[in-house]
Amino acid sequence: MLGVCYYPEHWKREMVREDFRKMKELGIQYVRMGEFAWSRIEPSPGKFDWEWLDEVLDWAYEEGLKVILGTPTATPPKWLVDRHPEILPVDSEGRVKKFGSRRHYCFSSPVYREEARRIVTLVAKRYGKHPAVVGWQTDNEYGCHDTTRCYCERCKKAFQRWLEVKYDDIESLNKSWGTVFWSQEYGSFDEIELPNLTVADPNPAHVLDFFRFSSDQIRSFNRMQVEIIREHSPGRFITHNFMGGFTEFDHYALSQDLDFASWDNYPLGHTAVFLKMMGERENPFARVGHPDFAAFCHDLYRGVGKGRFWVMEQQVGPVNWAPYNPCPADGVVRLWTWEAFAHGAEVVTYFRWRQVPFAQEQMHSGILWPDSSPTPGYHEVKRVAEELKRIELPSTRRSPVALIFDYEAAWVFSIQPHGEGIHYLDLVIRFYTALRRLGIDVDVVPPIASLHGYKFVVVPSLPIVRKEYLDNFEEYEGFMVFGPRTGSKTEHFQIPPELPPGILQSILPLKVTHVESLGPIRETVLWGDKEYHVGVWKEWIRSSLEPIARFPDGRGALFRNRKYFYIAFWPTEEFLMDLFEQLADEAGLKTNRLPEGVRVRKRGDLTFAFNYTDRKVTLPFDGVNFLIGGRELEPYGVSIWREPGGS
Ligand code: GAL
Ligand code: ZN
Repeated sequence: MLGVCYYPEHWKREMVREDFRKMKELGIQYVRMGEFAWSRIEPSPGKFDWEWLDEVLDWAYEEGLKVILGTPTATPPKWLVDRHPEILPVDSEGRVKKFGSRRHYCFSSPVYREEARRIVTLVAKRYGKHPAVVGWQTDNEYGCHDTTRCYCERCKKAFQRWLEVKYDDIESLNKSWGTVFWSQEYGSFDEIELPNLTVADPNPAHVLDFFRFSSDQIRSFNRMQVEIIREHSPGRFITHNFMGGFTEFDHYALSQDLDFASWDNYPLGHTAVFLKMMGERENPFARVGHPDFAAFCHDLYRGVGKGRFWVMEQQVGPVNWAPYNPCPADGVVRLWTWEAFAHGAEVVTYFRWRQVPFAQEQMHSGILWPDSSPTPGYHEVKRVAEELKRIELPSTRRSPVALIFDYEAAWVFSIQPHGEGIHYLDLVIRFYTALRRLGIDVDVVPPIASLHGYKFVVVPSLPIVRKEYLDNFEEYEGFMVFGPRTGSKTEHFQIPPELPPGILQSILPLKVTHVESLGPIRETVLWGDKEYHVGVWKEWIRSSLEPIARFPDGRGALFRNRKYFYIAFWPTEEFLMDLFEQLADEAGLKTNRLPEGVRVRKRGDLTFAFNYTDRKVTLPFDGVNFLIGGRELEPYGVSIWREPGGS
């Protein structure tokens, strides 16, 4: 169940076989490779050098390793770029990005699609049936390094055609976007520009359509690769390695074409980036990672992967790309690995086998130092490999609570935040953290997922509520909690005619009039005999419903209509914990306020507990049969037990 990312092209031929042997010895079964090796496979146009890779795959097979082969399309070689400079992407400032790193291609370029089709077909034909190859990774981290959206002429043309298919006649586009505002009206689809380099803000409906278009381009680029691989590599899985906390394209849609989702888990880097985005100066989790960020991504990718996911790259030591790059605390690589398995990961693949002493990632550590001696991460991987022999992992069950996560929601927030420091992901993580601190397991699902059977469902925010979402919510029998800005926009990025929450008013009879972003303003909400902090965002509600919680001036802050709740402000974790505790109680779901920095998660009849602090913690669970660890949780420790009554 463990793997490693490996770059045989970086090392002398005689090292590779020895590396494979050492991987096996460490307890590694899977090796991912090939995803950046185009220049070694095709050193000049039409001249191929396959022998080295043939040999590597044969050796892997002989050593009993299973290979995930990457298609090399994230790194078109120099000769290709020189022959076809028009494949290069253009940034939002209108500058052509150059050769010299990676991801230097435009998803709309017909020439690049042809080149990608050619190389993927050749690789898939040659290795599709190789006995070492068990699966494929398409490309590498779509969208990384700000490459989701390209502003070149080819993208403009493709966007115009996309709009024509969507709107059919230009008048309907003008009306949907509201182009009469500021004399932006268009006479034909060929006149439409890309929404960059405008003097003031571009039209938000224009931007949203451009985001949708860009998301579709990635999906079709990926699907082209999938179709080729399916034809030439029967019986092998196809996945893609997505990124943590990345929302620029619709991952649910793209994953329809994959067998399962994978993601690249760098807890320290992701935590530093997330906290920086939130404007936090302190980082109590600098050496372990935010207790809910990686966990949330695991749950999200399980949802994206229709119940199945891998961690394709797992941080195993310090990285090189975050705002600061500390070493993980002792024991934390083991904690991350077990955390992934607890959330249902099938395989965890570490990045990377050996730190490479040259080029861009020379400061990025691995399982081995550049001189091949073991890093601290090596010993933690070894420990997990040994522990895994003792524990058979059951399959993951449905969680008691679902959280609805939506990519379009992330786009709406980013296009029109209405103030600084307002991020969809922040709101989502607050809801998620509140549930996790109560010991509740969560499934992260799209708005059209079947909700039947969940004890309750939370929707941190869903600005665009489509008719089919509403039907889904009406059909669901349990409690639903909607956060601020839900129903605040139509599909064409307009304020709904009946005012927000738009069509949701059929289940929540209330209207949102003013909305405020609060910046430095700190206010409160009163609920029962408790007072809660409010910052970031607040709404004024008109309704005949009697509010459950109120702002100090008496206006409503929390509303309930039958089984539906609406929160008219940006809630704190404390508020959400009290609300969810009450709902869980009404829904017959047991909760457990966990000690600070501790999280638990069930997989089948196993329960896992994680300590994200540097102190010993005593778990509030008694009389259980511990398989690993015990009631006393070591700093950064892991305990695993079987439920009483389980076998
Ligand atoms: C990932 C990427 C890898 C490597 C790694 C370093 O984003 O897929 O190729 O660059 O980061 O942390
Ligand atoms: Zn382009």
